Amino acid sequence: MTLLLPAHLLESSPQWFPYFGNQRRFVPFVKELLVGLGAREGDTIFETNAGSHAISYHLAIEMGMHPIANDIGFYSCNIGTALSRQRTEASVLVAAKGAALIEKFGYNPPQDSIPDQLLVDKWKQFIREQIPAKNYRVIRDNLFDSLEQFQGKFIYCDFAWPWRDGTYTSEYETTADTLGKLLGDETLCTFKIASARRILQDVIAYLDAARKRYEFVILSNQSSNYPIPEVLEAHMVACGHSPIISRRQTVPAEHVDNLGNDLYFTEYQYVFEGRL
Ligand SMILES: C[S@@+](CC[C@H](N)C(=O)[O-])C[C@H]1O[C@@H](n2cnc3c(N)ncnc32)[C@H](O)[C@@H]1O
Repeated sequence: MTLLLPAHLLESSPQWFPYFGNQRRFVPFVKELLVGLGAREGDTIFETNAGSHAISYHLAIEMGMHPIANDIGFYSCNIGTALSRQRTEASVLVAAKGAALIEKFGYNPPQDSIPDQLLVDKWKQFIREQIPAKNYRVIRDNLFDSLEQFQGKFIYCDFAWPWRDGTYTSEYETTADTLGKLLGDETLCTFKIASARRILQDVIAYLDAARKRYEFVILSNQSSNYPIPEVLEAHMVACGHSPIISRRQTVPAEHVDNLGNDLYFTEYQYVFEGRL
């Protein structure tokens, strides 16, 4: 049997679920930021676009934080549930099937894809090896609705950004729609990935809303995406949002970063003070 992309996917996510945009490698960088901001065991953090749950899960396990992890995607939410004390057989199966489908067919699996049972078993085993996180809440909502439901110390947002040239990133739409349907999601998916024009509005809407409710508002972006820092930073300042911290980390690029198109990959973090 020929597996599509296995080498790339294994190279990109050796220790985590295959998930487009997954930030497993940047967990230490995020932890360093949070420690610098005074994060302590028991602090809540609201993650608006949890994706693979790499960030929230490791903050829960390694720092004892209490994440509220939101994502609009069915695969994502089942990963989160499977990693938490709310773990169920159903969530483990969905998360394992999703990982198996992506491992075999790539990030845009065709509508009739069938998961390979050996891969499903491998991912079930992987999930069972992960400690179920306590104080871990998983929600599935539009980020703008969900962030209004809570308030607290930290909020972290890594949007489903468009590609650097401004075109939309179909991988996120497929994960939320085609992959969701393949995994048994029965909800109607009205999900649309932001265009270059809309993402700038979304960033400002996020900062406007989040700064009213959270002490520290964190925005994460990457070098594969639009808006590039020169555009994003000027736009945020022009709209009244000046970060108190801007930092970046550059690493050798992996396939998950920009589908193998770049040699290096940069993570950008911006922190804004709340206006509570
Ligand atoms: C860049 S990925 C997040 C990756 C994540 N940081 C990780 O480490 O895996 C963006 C995520 O945003 C989710 N998403 C897109 N639009 C959303 C929305 N309106 N509300 C909530 N989640 C959304 C997608 O399902 C996708 O999982």
